[in-house]
Amino acid sequence: MLRLEYTHKNGDFVLYEADRAPEMVFPLVNAAGMMSSVTSRLAGDCKTGQNSFLLPPASVETLHESRAGRNFFAVLENGALWSAAGNSAAQQASRFSEPEEVSVRGGLLWFEVCRQNDRLGLASSALVFVPAGEARTELMRVTLRNTGDKPLRLTPTAAFPLYGRSADNIRDHRHVTSLLNRLEVAECGLRLTPTMTFDERGHKPGNTVYTVFGRQDDGQAPVRFLGPVQDYVGSGSYDWPQALAQQAAWMAPGDRAEGYEMAAVLQFAPCELAPGQQKSWLIALGINDDGLRYLTPEAFEQALAQTQAHWQRVGAASFETGDHALDGWLRWVAVQPEIRRICGCSFLPHHDYGRGGRGWRDLWQDSLALILRDPAAVREDLVRYFAGVRADGTNATIIGSQPGAFIADRNNIVRVWMDHGFWPLVTVNAYIQQTGDLSILTEKQPWFRDRRKQRGEVLADQEPAGTALGRGTVLEHLLVQHVTACCDAGEHGCIRLRGADWNDALDMAAERGESVAFTAAYAGNLGVLADLCDALADAEVKSVPLNAYFCMLLEAPWEQRSEALRQYEAVCEDRSAVRKADCRWIAASLRKMGDRLIRHLREQEFTAQGWMNSYYDNNGQAVRPMMLTGQVFALMSGTADDSQALSIQKNADALLYDEKRGGYCLNENFGGDIPPLGRQFGFAYGHKENGAVFCHMTVMYAYALLSRGYRDAGMKALRGLIGQSMAAEISRVYPGIPEYFDPKGRGMYPYLTGAGSWLMLCLITLVFGVRGQNGDLLLAPCLTPEDFGGAETAVIRCYFAGRPCEVRYRRPSEKDWKTLRVVRARLNGKALDGPLVKRDALTMLDEINIDAELEGSD
Ligand code: G1P
Repeated sequence: MLRLEYTHKNGDFVLYEADRAPEMVFPLVNAAGMMSSVTSRLAGDCKTGQNSFLLPPASVETLHESRAGRNFFAVLENGALWSAAGNSAAQQASRFSEPEEVSVRGGLLWFEVCRQNDRLGLASSALVFVPAGEARTELMRVTLRNTGDKPLRLTPTAAFPLYGRSADNIRDHRHVTSLLNRLEVAECGLRLTPTMTFDERGHKPGNTVYTVFGRQDDGQAPVRFLGPVQDYVGSGSYDWPQALAQQAAWMAPGDRAEGYEMAAVLQFAPCELAPGQQKSWLIALGINDDGLRYLTPEAFEQALAQTQAHWQRVGAASFETGDHALDGWLRWVAVQPEIRRICGCSFLPHHDYGRGGRGWRDLWQDSLALILRDPAAVREDLVRYFAGVRADGTNATIIGSQPGAFIADRNNIVRVWMDHGFWPLVTVNAYIQQTGDLSILTEKQPWFRDRRKQRGEVLADQEPAGTALGRGTVLEHLLVQHVTACCDAGEHGCIRLRGADWNDALDMAAERGESVAFTAAYAGNLGVLADLCDALADAEVKSVPLNAYFCMLLEAPWEQRSEALRQYEAVCEDRSAVRKADCRWIAASLRKMGDRLIRHLREQEFTAQGWMNSYYDNNGQAVRPMMLTGQVFALMSGTADDSQALSIQKNADALLYDEKRGGYCLNENFGGDIPPLGRQFGFAYGHKENGAVFCHMTVMYAYALLSRGYRDAGMKALRGLIGQSMAAEISRVYPGIPEYFDPKGRGMYPYLTGAGSWLMLCLITLVFGVRGQNGDLLLAPCLTPEDFGGAETAVIRCYFAGRPCEVRYRRPSEKDWKTLRVVRARLNGKALDGPLVKRDALTMLDEINIDAELEGSD
């Protein structure tokens, strides 16, 4: 049976019977932008971006459809082929009748497939990783071992398809682009340098070199090579190539080939393995020559150790809960935000869309985890991202990796995701709470300007000419985002859905759709923003400069807010008239607006069945079945009062909870009652946005419940997700939290999900309760007896005020406890007065060590 076991709390694991789950995808990435994916059959791809794939692009289906993957053959004396990837025709034919023993050992971020064939007496291990640092290379060490009792003679042969171009060319001039190929045989491998790139970017000279190099562990280079796929595969196939079965036109260093699809076939000298003997070969795939320097056993080992150590240092926290499997799994969740920072929402096989770049809402949410680790390092980036906000409150949707690089829309469409204005404040407020640094609010940034006008209603003929619009404070950007959104009212008084909200798949109700869910979200944020304005006033920042037209919008009568917004949109690019706006006045205006919205939602949108309506469709009808999103933001924002909150939980348990697939689903089944709302209703029920257990939203549900004090309900939501993710025999995902669980309980879209950041935020700040409060450190855990496992302490190692911070909670002596509080604590050995540590008390410390005693009660 497929079974995943954690062997260490650092995240190391073994997957037994891994050949039963060849679809499970493992990520290997580094800061240089090398992005690989790999499976137990060594499928997957390797690239640095949309236009530079070394191995052919892999999506979920190609993982099993394609034979063109990483391969390493042992050509046996009788001519038979045996593959360390399990990808020889013979192994495929006997996969079920004579299964090989296959397991995967892995850790942060390294991957090793071990394969054993008892009949042949041959075992292999293929260890793959992408070295941490700046090298654009993927390294592999293949070891073959004679497990039989007779000597084995074999010829080792590494074979990799060498795609070397843009993913677009898979269905756009695949053949023509192969004519650009120029291949050269080097001393220990092959270099492919296409003469040009051939696509809508223009026919540019090719300056990317794709390489595959290899050496034996004793330093010997391969003895012969092949490049053109036709010469290798002949009338066979990638898993039964003619060149390895019969004679071939082998190449030698200095030889060249051009104008065909290429593979990198590196054949090493035949060798004999005595019983028990093993031998290794090192391979480096590269998008330049970086890989060459790793082709000695010492360099390879050193890079592996450095990579393992690097990833152990990444992440906002690690935990000791008394359950080392859980602790190990949580290490993976901690590194997920970093993996997504590198890959965006593209570039792993499930994510076969997008072209790189970082989406607006994802970037802000991923920054949450980075803030918990090192807020000072993130500050500059956060400030810079505000330059993507337009004066009408909308924003460029893609943030490039270079400072100041914004893309209005990936597909050049004029649209507005109405939730986008909500996320920056969540992140900025988290930053301020962790650091107490209110000055971020008065930093200045330009306004983004392009052809899109009037909140996505108008596309001007030409890009704007003339000078920029000047700069506004971060606070002004936040105010504009929120106030314009709240004035963008639909016919029921909630905020218009426009192109979609957080749920990308609600994209067909631009005219009459309204997102009740995000109306609550924004209403809650207005209160947060008001508190920040008051905090500024308390800190002697009595007034801030605000655009005069925007002040008029802030003062507009509530009933006329849509009209006032239209008037503001018409003049908002004139930022010349500036008023000094009193911070207390701003705070009061925001509160008034927020309270109105909350009252409206409580009174009009709370359904007779006992939950919050989430949306109006394009016919102006409220959706009838229960949807989780509306509940999450009603709880998180304080919109749902206590009795409504309890009713929501009861209904969520009755209508949305499915124990077999990780807990709370995103929505009930709409059946035939499909509203005109979005493409999600075209998806089969239980998949993706149509009613899957969508981890990101379920974690936010848990976060909302825990922040409202509903500990058991919040923990139930978290435990469902954690249990499902960790049960690899059902979820079929390597360690980490995936985007969602499908109707069979399988994890989909692993690693690149906002659920990673939110789960860390939830565990650190609410479950372990280590969080900033205006820069002071507050300990307010909501642990349960289960969180201690069998241990006497539950420990979190995280960061606070830029310092490593370890908090050890001692298990309360009471047997049954429902609520608990910190009764005594010591900071670096000195007794504390209570659960709040003032910022000043931390400044002299290099590390924060806290021992806390808890008291539980019923
Ligand atoms: C994805 C997208 C995110 C979107 C969500 C729901 O994954 O990346 O932008 O809001 O689906 O459509 P997530 O990061 O939420 O797991």
